[in-house]
Parts: sequence; structure tokens; C-alpha cells
Amino acid sequence: MSGPLYRAPRGVLEYLPPRGEEFLRVRERLAAPARAAGYSYLELPVFEQTALYARGVGESTDVVSKEMYSFTTRGGDEVTLRPEGTAGVVRAVLEHGLDRGRLPVKLWYAGPFFRYERPQAGRYRQLQQLGIEALGSEDPALDAEVIAIGWEGYAGLGLRGVRLDLNTLGCAVCRPAYREALVAFLATIEMDAETRRRATVNPLRVLDDKRPEVRDRLAEAPLMSTFLCAECRAHHDTVRTLLADVGVPWRDEPRLVRGLDYYTRTTFEFVHDGLGAQSGIGGGGRYDGLAEVLGGPALPGIGFGLGVDRTLLAVEAEGTGLAVAAPLDVFAVALGPEAGREVFSIVVSLRRAGIRTDQAFGNRALKGAMKAADRSGAAYAVLVGSRDLAADVAQVKDLVAGNQTAVPLSRLVDTLTRLLQEKDS
Ligand code: HAM
Repeated sequence: MSGPLYRAPRGVLEYLPPRGEEFLRVRERLAAPARAAGYSYLELPVFEQTALYARGVGESTDVVSKEMYSFTTRGGDEVTLRPEGTAGVVRAVLEHGLDRGRLPVKLWYAGPFFRYERPQAGRYRQLQQLGIEALGSEDPALDAEVIAIGWEGYAGLGLRGVRLDLNTLGCAVCRPAYREALVAFLATIEMDAETRRRATVNPLRVLDDKRPEVRDRLAEAPLMSTFLCAECRAHHDTVRTLLADVGVPWRDEPRLVRGLDYYTRTTFEFVHDGLGAQSGIGGGGRYDGLAEVLGGPALPGIGFGLGVDRTLLAVEAEGTGLAVAAPLDVFAVALGPEAGREVFSIVVSLRRAGIRTDQAFGNRALKGAMKAADRSGAAYAVLVGSRDLAADVAQVKDLVAGNQTAVPLSRLVDTLTRLLQEKDS
């Protein structure tokens, strides 16, 4: 035997049971504060025209220049598996005129995204995000709302080790002067060829360099915060005041630059220290110029993408647990072939009553079927043999306490509903 012929592609994660349930639980908890704040669900295409990302996310970013899964379709279209969600959301809003209704348009989405990165712990080629985007308002209260929703999502998972890093990247008015000053500074320091290249394409990205020797040389680099125009400064101050008012703590990170080109003003990252190198569990910011870059009207926006994979890793690192409920309430067993038909009906009626029920398949011997019942994690087994059929009853066995009682079939659903409620309380 040589084993299975195929494996999942490198860097692509699968969530097998029971971790699959935990993954879903994390995503639901992260989505809950957004739904409570009036964000509506949007299901986006998993691939789009390549030009959308090249233009929207930016040719100078690693995401576009090195990491895209791009291909030509049989019809000759250039398409790319989505590396992120914001460009697609703005495209959909503009295409369908969602910005013609009440503003801001508030949307959330979730699912897989694709980046050809070097795989390592916490860094995958198929990554999972939960994102929100709010378009059509420049109000700094919207920035604070988006950040607070992310914060509440992590809090809802019981995470304690989350830190919020906050910065502002200025706007089309004040950033050019800053960029010029930064370029002039970068020309005076020593750099390797690759960093020098990056400095010409996107000088702000150099600030994000993690190497200690580069960091040392950058110690005196000018910062955006000293170049902000009055509007950007006031905007940022209001965002911080509102966050402080609602008890969301943050750390000012004047060197925080994000990996995507569309950002303006507010930018932020959620960081968890229990994860090693891949500590960014979520991030986002404003992108007030993106809609215009994509050929639409001026339509400011802000949002975030939370990494569901990394958030689950953070939950596991903290050992907080997700209290994922046992998957089943009842496990039904037919003792002998003649009871099979009755058991199938019982199973369907229990499920219709909202009781999570499975059954033994394959006409197993009693011992094997009871083992399956025990392993199923159900609280009760329902057993039906030929004598029970004749008496119109089923045996209900408490799989924890071990006791068993005969219950008339006509009262089975009610009895199990009551027993399960009693167990719950
Ligand atoms: P991003 O920072 O590129 O932002 O990704 C958001 C989050 O996705 C990261 O903080 C991280 O947790 C997770 N993530 C990214 N790459 C990987 C990977 N290779 N493996 C595992 N997790 C990963 C965006 O994508 C923006 N669209 C967020 C946004 C929305 N900005 C405004 N609106």
C-alpha cells in the first residue's frame, strides 16, 4: 500500500472536525458585532479581473507584484483569485449603484482569499478573512465604529492578548510633502539594492522593514504625524477621542504602514503576541481615493479584514476554549432489520423538532451500535427492537447516567425535548 495519491496543495489549510466547528465559531463571533451594527452580508466572487487588483491594491505592493494567483481563462480573460476583499467590495458597490441609497453603505463578507506567500505557521496561501466595509462617509465616528467592531469581535471570543496599533497616513493634500521628505531622507542612508528599489516604488513601505540594522538607520526618518494637514489631524484626534470614550485601548504606531496601496488617513492593526512572527490577526483603514481609482465617483470608505485562521490560533494559544457544544443530542439505533423503518421516522421527527439526531447505519450488532452511540457524544440513545415495535414504544437511554426507560412512540418527541431542556438547565 502506497497511501493516498493526492494531498492538499502546499500552504493550504483544512479544518477537519472537531476543529472545523471551532473555525466556524470564531467566524460567527467575529461577525456578530458587525451584524449588530447594521452591516449586511455580501457574497463576493472568488475571482475578478486581474486589473481590478493591479489598479485597486497597487502594482507596487507585494500582494500584487509577487503573490497573485493569476491566469488566463479559456475565453482569454485575465483573472485573479481574490487576494483581498476591499477592491471587490468597492467594485460591486459601484457596479450595482449601492452608493445611490442611504449612506454609509455597510457590508460584511467572509471566505477564502489567496496569496502565493511562503507558507509558515500562521501564513497560508489560502487564508480566511472576515471583513467589513463602510462606504460613503468621511465621519471619523465611522472609523471609530469599524475599529470598535473589530475589538468587540475579539473580546467576544474571550481573547485578552489583543493589541490595537493605530496610525494615520494623511490624505492627498498632506501626504505628497511627507513622501518627498521621506524620499530625501532615504537617499541619505545606506540600503541594499532590493530596499533601494522598494524605496523608489513605495517609500512608505521601507518604514515597515523589520530588520534591526535597517530600523536603526531609519530612527531619524521623518514621520507622517508631523506633516498632517489640519483636517487629517482633527480627524485623527476625533477617532482617538471616540475610542477612548468607549474604552477601546490603542497604541500610537507612527510607523505603521499597511501592505496595500489604497490607504488614507486612519490605519490600524490588531496584533496578538502569542503567535510568533505572524502576529497580525487583523487590519484595516480608510481608503478615500479607491472608488475614484476604480473609475467611480468620490466615495470615501473604511473597513477591516480579520484573519480567521490566525484568530483561531490566538484562541488556542490563550487556551480560552470556545465551548463548542456536543454535536448531537440523540443517537438512534434499530435493533434488527424490522425496526429500521420506525427508527428512520423517529430520527426525522426528532430533527424536525430541533433535536440534533443521528442514527446507526448498516444494521450493526447491538454492541457495535451502542459503542457508536457512546462515541457520538449524544446525551441520549433511542433504541427500538421488535418487542418495542409490538408495544409501540422506544427505549430511551441516558448515555451519561446509564438508566433506560420505555417511552410510548406518540410521546417520544415531547419526552426527549423535556429531558434535554432539563439537562441544559
Ligand atoms: P491585510 O492586512 O492584507 O488586509 O489582511 C487582513 C488580515 O488577513 C491580516 O491581518 C491577517 O490576519 C490575515 N492574513 C493576511 N494574509 C494572510 C496569510 N497569508 N495567512 C493567514 N492570514 C493572513 C486586507 O486584506 C484588507 N483588505 C483589509 C481591509 C479591509 N482594509 C480596509 N478594508
